[in-house]
Amino acid sequence: MTERTLTIIKPDSVENNNVGAIIAHLEREGFRIVAARQMRLTEAQARAFYEVHRERPFYNDLVAYMTSGPVWPMCLERENAVAYLREVMGATNPADAAEGTIRALHGTSIERNAIHGSDSPENAAKEIAFFFPAAELL
Ligand code: CMP
Repeated sequence: MTERTLTIIKPDSVENNNVGAIIAHLEREGFRIVAARQMRLTEAQARAFYEVHRERPFYNDLVAYMTSGPVWPMCLERENAVAYLREVMGATNPADAAEGTIRALHGTSIERNAIHGSDSPENAAKEIAFFFPAAELL
């Protein structure tokens, strides 16, 4: 089934000029870009986006990191997009990510792990709506 998911190209990838390589990787894997933009998250936006992690010890660092530079949220479409993006992205910690995955190729730590990907279709719908009004999903 064709499905949509949300990725965020994180500040480390922007800083290291890996945006183009990551987009090319995603397109090569059959994802269509439905919406994309470059932006800098405000602290309030980052706190709200990562609300589910607010009790975790890494929450404040995560918010500080995600607001430290520009990011690229993108809505992606593909067959089985949510699960497939998680496969292409690799494990959260780049040290554990399978060879050839985006996090293995471009991530440098559990925090600076190159990209985010929605973890379920329900969260994907919420995360897409967080960044993009329906009229921008093309
Ligand atoms: P992401 O997929 O964006 O979702 C939550 C993020 O928290 C995760 O990627 C990691 O980059 C970040 N994070 C930082 N420290 C940890 C940790 N110890 N365990 C899990 N996630 C962490």
